[in-house]
Amino acid sequence: MTGADIDYARYDRIRPIRWTGGALELLDQRRLPFETTYVSCGTSDEVADAIRQLVVRGAPAIGIAAAWGVVLAARGIDAVDGAQAARLLQPAMEQLNAARPTAVNLAWALARMRGALEGAGSAWRERLEAEARAIETEDLAANRRMGELGASLIAPGSGVLTHCNTGSLATAGFGTALGVIRAGVAQGRIGRVFADETRPWMQGSRLTVWELQQDGIDATLIADAAASHLLKEGGVEWVVVGADRICANGDVANKIGTYQLAISARFHGRKFMVVAPSSTVDMATPSGDLIEIEERDPAELLGVGGSRTVADGIQAWNPVFDVTPAALIDAIVTEKGIVERPDADAMRALLS
Ligand code: MRU
Repeated sequence: MTGADIDYARYDRIRPIRWTGGALELLDQRRLPFETTYVSCGTSDEVADAIRQLVVRGAPAIGIAAAWGVVLAARGIDAVDGAQAARLLQPAMEQLNAARPTAVNLAWALARMRGALEGAGSAWRERLEAEARAIETEDLAANRRMGELGASLIAPGSGVLTHCNTGSLATAGFGTALGVIRAGVAQGRIGRVFADETRPWMQGSRLTVWELQQDGIDATLIADAAASHLLKEGGVEWVVVGADRICANGDVANKIGTYQLAISARFHGRKFMVVAPSSTVDMATPSGDLIEIEERDPAELLGVGGSRTVADGIQAWNPVFDVTPAALIDAIVTEKGIVERPDADAMRALLS
């Protein structure tokens, strides 16, 4: 089966990022699922802040938002050509890049915006806007391709478990791991979908199951702590997750909790699939121990829904990503193809 069999009008309806021509509108993911409101950003400072605050989140989505942030920053400068514009835009690009450290898509998108300015003459503004649009359009196309590729690995009637939110909300649309799940459901390969809560920010319970509900896909929510029990009991053949950075040796940084799912999947004889566009692959980082892991405010652990649940004076540690070693991964799916049992040679071959 191919993408032609997938009804994208049904399975691809949410858009977290809207460029109006004058401003960047971001679906406020802090307020979902009960409020669907967009935050309007008119400056690159506002975009950087929105990325930091998780108004927009998910590796590909923050790259796309940052690209539009550069377009907004360009409104505040005067330059005769691309080279001068690149120098004047450098502070804004550094500020956008510093908003979150782990997802490589942010630095990747900014490098593309910088590259678009190279050799650009007086029409550099148009070049920048066209590049931001291209980054967004290519991400959507990559997701649809990965949906087809990833779903082809899944035997009809399988159950899957996913983690965090990797759907339209985290990308230009359709999603990475959630794109594979959408394609797999559309093609009748996936019979049961489980999503875990993804504490402490609850991307799974607040975003993923809501997103699937919009498509009419039944999903069963589980506590993060129920995952090993589910994998042991059966009913799930694949754990399908996204990535924030894939290293040259196939190690994968993704939302905290991914690593323990990979260990548990291997222990219980289930398969583990990582789905991410090539913009998430960082061949300049040899292995996962070199990735900077973002730590967020411990307050995220000290309460639920704004109410404190933990006694005063308790300390908390809140790393929000972890690294899954390549050896625990059965398949990495990108728009360029599938790597089974990833290692440095296979990753190099994929990208060459
Ligand atoms: O902190 P978040 O919500 O930005 O983390 C998102 C994830 O870890 C996703 O799994 C990853 O970015 C892949 S999204 C297509």
